[in-house]
Amino acid sequence: MRILLLGSGGREHALALKISQSELCDELFIAPGNAGTADCGTNLPFSVTDFDSIKSFCKSEKIDMVLVGPEEPLVKGVTDILHEDDELKNMKIIGPPKKAAQLEGSKAFAKAFMMRHNIPTATYKEFTLENYQEGVTYLQEHSLPIVLKADGLAAGKGVVICENPLEAIAEFELMIQRAKFGEASKKVVVEQFLKGIEISVFAITDGKNYVLLPEAKDYKRVGEGDTGLNTGGMGAVSPVPFVDAALMKKIEEKVVMPTVDGLQKEGIDYCGFIFFGLMIADGEPYMIEYNCRMGDPETEVVIPRLKTDLVELLVAAADGKLDKIKVETDTRTACTVVAVSGGYPGDYKKGYNIKGLADIDSQKSLLFHMGTIAEDGEIKTNGGRVLCISSYGHSVLEAVETSKKEMEKLFFTGLTYRKDIGFEFS
Ligand code: AMP
Ligand code: GLY
Repeated sequence: MRILLLGSGGREHALALKISQSELCDELFIAPGNAGTADCGTNLPFSVTDFDSIKSFCKSEKIDMVLVGPEEPLVKGVTDILHEDDELKNMKIIGPPKKAAQLEGSKAFAKAFMMRHNIPTATYKEFTLENYQEGVTYLQEHSLPIVLKADGLAAGKGVVICENPLEAIAEFELMIQRAKFGEASKKVVVEQFLKGIEISVFAITDGKNYVLLPEAKDYKRVGEGDTGLNTGGMGAVSPVPFVDAALMKKIEEKVVMPTVDGLQKEGIDYCGFIFFGLMIADGEPYMIEYNCRMGDPETEVVIPRLKTDLVELLVAAADGKLDKIKVETDTRTACTVVAVSGGYPGDYKKGYNIKGLADIDSQKSLLFHMGTIAEDGEIKTNGGRVLCISSYGHSVLEAVETSKKEMEKLFFTGLTYRKDIGFEFS
């Protein structure tokens, strides 16, 4: 098969590596990719939202399957645009259509969907300029802390947890009246705060059937001990030690099945990954958010644990045959540690040379590029999250220690990483 993968992060490097190992893959292209994906296939010089270039490339290169990595092209309708073209109507596309991608693209859409299908989640109300005053009263009277969420995509920054009503009202005003997140915060979801432990559960669905992939836990805060600003994710572990078969069964029955059934009942065609961001409180799962794609850096621990051929899995999803597939998982633990640019998640510089890449012990660890670029014969930093190192172990501690040891071999100006990934399981 000739496969096109859209994206440029660590998630895409992990997916590209796994796809390139499949006998079903004849040729792999990645748009735009990074310096790491270039070792798994051919990088292309266009962005994930350059739909005209994507379409022309799929036609001229006779692409059999497109796998969409990030949410932006999905929310903007890349699947619909490709499928609507007569010449491409038989091409397989892994990634939901625009309507279904609203599960990630609109918090209000996702919450209403959860309500319609009795999926456990925090209580909430939605507000716009029209019912602004009602919102202020709601915030004054609500128990604390309280969670404010910009409705639309806000580069992972649209959620604010407020500890007092004044702070909440100020934030509410910034979002709605002053368009803090532009169009994305014209509507705000105000939600009850849930206390618990967050985990990420992944399924791939063909619209009727689904299979689960290994679960993971992401470390979102920039600082050790889960302190400081939120990031895209500083590390991840899989499996999550406290997630047993009984909890997984509950998650499937209360969240995964009603979601897939709900999509089907509403006539929404969904072929692709569903990422369930869950809070586990007193042993019960609550939906925090849907994503219509895999997680990053979760993919960098989930994919290394997937023994099943990924292309076979993707083809089964596209052909509506996931009921015929059994997912096999490596029982070892995988952990990843992310190296970020100095200053991230605030301002940071790009373009520093990266040293030590060839020294990573590939018997022990997998090095995934996240924000890198090959330029003038050097590999340079090209993002906030630059690289991650995933390792296997018999425990979280063992896997993390291996990644940290390998990380010591890497250097670029400003490199930092969290040394305590998996701390609560050690
Ligand atoms: P989201 O973009 O919806 O994933 O939210 C970002 C982060 O905010 C989540 O990963 C949680 O850590 C936190 N969060 C979101 N909603 C809630 C909630 N209702 N209660 C507690 N924490 C939340
Ligand atoms: N690591 C969280 C995400 O991919 O959204």
